Amino acid sequence: MTTSALVTPISLSNDLLTGAEWSPSHTRDLILLSAEIKARPGRYASSLTGKFIALIFEKPSLRTRVTFDVGIQSMGGSVVFLDHTQASASLGARESIADVARNLDRWVHGIVARVYQQKVLEEMAANAAIPVINALSDKFHPCQALADFFTLEERFGALRGFKLTYVGDGNNVCHSLMYLAARLGVHLRVATPHDYQPAPEVVADSKRVAKETRAKIELMTDPREAVAGAQGVYTDAWTSMGFEAEGEVRSAVFRPYQVNAELMSLAAPDAVFMHCLPAHRGLEVTPEVLDGPQSVVLDQSENRMYVQKAILHTLF
Ligand code: CP
Ligand code: NVA
Repeated sequence: MTTSALVTPISLSNDLLTGAEWSPSHTRDLILLSAEIKARPGRYASSLTGKFIALIFEKPSLRTRVTFDVGIQSMGGSVVFLDHTQASASLGARESIADVARNLDRWVHGIVARVYQQKVLEEMAANAAIPVINALSDKFHPCQALADFFTLEERFGALRGFKLTYVGDGNNVCHSLMYLAARLGVHLRVATPHDYQPAPEVVADSKRVAKETRAKIELMTDPREAVAGAQGVYTDAWTSMGFEAEGEVRSAVFRPYQVNAELMSLAAPDAVFMHCLPAHRGLEVTPEVLDGPQSVVLDQSENRMYVQKAILHTLF
């Protein structure tokens, strides 16, 4: 697969912390490798033989935990699970994050971590030579966005010019969709309430890369305008993990951003509905949309496994 000559090559970092580490061509290759691994998993059954990978979770998870665990084992690797979801065992309390990372670096071949703060991942990566993979932070969820674009490519073919609209909170999932959309040439509209727009540095980087790839990144506040003609409509929880104290305020502010049948009717007739899950029926999405024929949410979940196997195969 070729990339525009204007694209600045970025060297392949051995960490995946944000999704912005990878150049457009590397991102494209990762999607292609995901498809190859999904089609021929047996060829990759020994890719991680003899490798031990630490899975660190500060927050709950179903999809990420299971897909990494099963994915690593299906490639011949082994998992060491470190549960930091209880406040009584919070990461960094017993010893510093840097010391945790320096120790793990001596025993295992990689770290997959779900953390409250992006800076914790950066500190781990700075103190360990082994790959560190972001399994969700307050700022980014790159494994999710890669699975989402792989899901779209499987269904619609090449992603260049694909019209995707994200409606809701300018959160971690939204940030990663922006980074990846920019790198894959997607036309992404993001509709959020004014005070919940994506972070300025993510907008700036995405727009910079979009100029090179001919992607389009547009920020809006009107969900109806943003969804008009979209081929994919994506939403996520209004209150992400770690923001529970704001739940009541957020439910009121985000109410006009609910994805329901009426909003979906403004999208293209064959548009798909997307959500990273877990979903909250009756809040960000109605049951008729989430459980309806346009929904591809379980394909997204399934594909987490294949993009993560592709990430591991690439980084190890
Ligand atoms: N989408 C996702 O990351 O799900 P989990 O929180 O269950 O891992
Ligand atoms: N934005 C959500 C995604 C969950 C997978 C959260 O961070 O809670």
